Amino acid sequence: MAETLYIPENASRKAVYDSIIPQVEGLLSGETDQTANLANFAAALREAFGFFWVGFYLKKENQLVLGPFQGPIACTRINFDKGVCGYCYRTKETVIVPNVEEFPGHIACSSASKSEIVVPVFDKNGDVSMVLDVDSDKLDDFSEVDKEGLEALVRILEKTFIA
Ligand code: SME
Repeated sequence: MAETLYIPENASRKAVYDSIIPQVEGLLSGETDQTANLANFAAALREAFGFFWVGFYLKKENQLVLGPFQGPIACTRINFDKGVCGYCYRTKETVIVPNVEEFPGHIACSSASKSEIVVPVFDKNGDVSMVLDVDSDKLDDFSEVDKEGLEALVRILEKTFIA
């Protein structure tokens, strides 16, 4: 397993995704412990892009509960009918929020967070078992490039789930 992430300098965000996707595959493959993989996944994204906050909310009974993350402390529990994370969980689709203040029901864990993207993560049955939440301290920081890159990375993560 490679333990150093190579990140191209002065590269476009697309080029950084293209570079880290195979590296993340190498980092996660061969490890079946979910906590270890979620932790390294979040760390790799933060290291590659310097996002303000990167982490997971895991479905536990009837709520989304904070999992491994990188960044400032965050709210621990999100109801399915609340926030961008709850919306993503219900719709099972990636949500891009260019300005969090304009998203009805957005949960502000930090006032520094300005835009956000949330990607659903599916279990082997096709149910959403967790969501990947990435926050930026810049407005309108996420585009289709991030949607495609993060969804590709999440597909790699899903392959490591045993059940
Ligand atoms: N903003 C999210 C809550 C999680 S924090 O951003 C880390 C939401 O509205 O669901």
